[in-house]
Amino acid sequence: MNQLKSDTRTAIVTGAGRGIGRGIAERLAREGYRIACWDIDCSPLDTLGDLHTGFVQPVDVADASSVEAAFAATLEAFGHVDLLVNNAGINGPVMPIWEYPVDTWNRVLAVDLNSVFHTCRLVAPHMRERGNGRIVNVASIVGKEGHPNICAYAAAKAGVIGLTKSIARELAGSGVTANCIAPAITETDLFREMTKEHIEASKARIPMGRFLTIPEIAAMVAWIASDECSFTTGFTFDLSGGRATY
Ligand SMILES: NC(=O)c1ccc[n+]([C@@H]2O[C@H](COP(=O)([O-])OP(=O)(O)OC[C@H]3O[C@@H](n4cnc5c(N)ncnc54)[C@H](O)[C@@H]3O)[C@@H](O)[C@H]2O)c1
Repeated sequence: MNQLKSDTRTAIVTGAGRGIGRGIAERLAREGYRIACWDIDCSPLDTLGDLHTGFVQPVDVADASSVEAAFAATLEAFGHVDLLVNNAGINGPVMPIWEYPVDTWNRVLAVDLNSVFHTCRLVAPHMRERGNGRIVNVASIVGKEGHPNICAYAAAKAGVIGLTKSIARELAGSGVTANCIAPAITETDLFREMTKEHIEASKARIPMGRFLTIPEIAAMVAWIASDECSFTTGFTFDLSGGRATY
């Protein structure tokens, strides 16, 4: 692919293969972004559909050197990156802390939190140098409130919120914003890792009484990424159906 003109908007979306990431990537592509679709499992990206102007990048976001290689390949393809959406994540098992295996804790933290450090430490200076950019990190309402039996996930998502607030201040004044979204439970393949009881308990805590939808998440990300969202950074945008109280 020839390097793009500098006014062509480009985005990295991690975990773009399926679920929320796929929905975000497709929405952004319809708005004219070229998308670098990063995923550890690229098989669902064999059919690119709306994403045909972008490209597919195999990566393990938990691994710093894999992220470095993916970012180098993205710059090679696009020349620049306007938007980073850190979406890739895993839920981990549903069990109390006294049963939670140490290696599972480490893997959930690596995929859900370390990944955001790995990408931001590369993308932030690139955007800063260009004087423009948007970072949107997908946290969770669980990162604000906690939730029983998913301690690693809750800790990682709380970490994502703290990391985002910190880098937002490091980048303030540079033209680059960094924000989080905190979705409530959304019907995706992540459900396969959850118990029926956990899903029902999560739904019961949503005053609107229904699950969030992927297009609703994608619409919010598209707005945070837009020029219109110009004076908000370090913030966590809720998509909680009324659950969030702060
Ligand atoms: N589904 C929900 O209820 C919900 C609620 C709040 C927040 N979230 C968050 O939204 C994000 C997406 O969730 P989803 O429901 O679409 O999940 P999903 O399991 O449907 O999709 C996750 C994607 O991330 C990819 N991925 C996983 N590990 C990876 C790795 N190490 N490197 C690169 N890619 C990797 C997967 O291959 C997959 O394509 C996650 O961060 C999740 O924590 C989900």
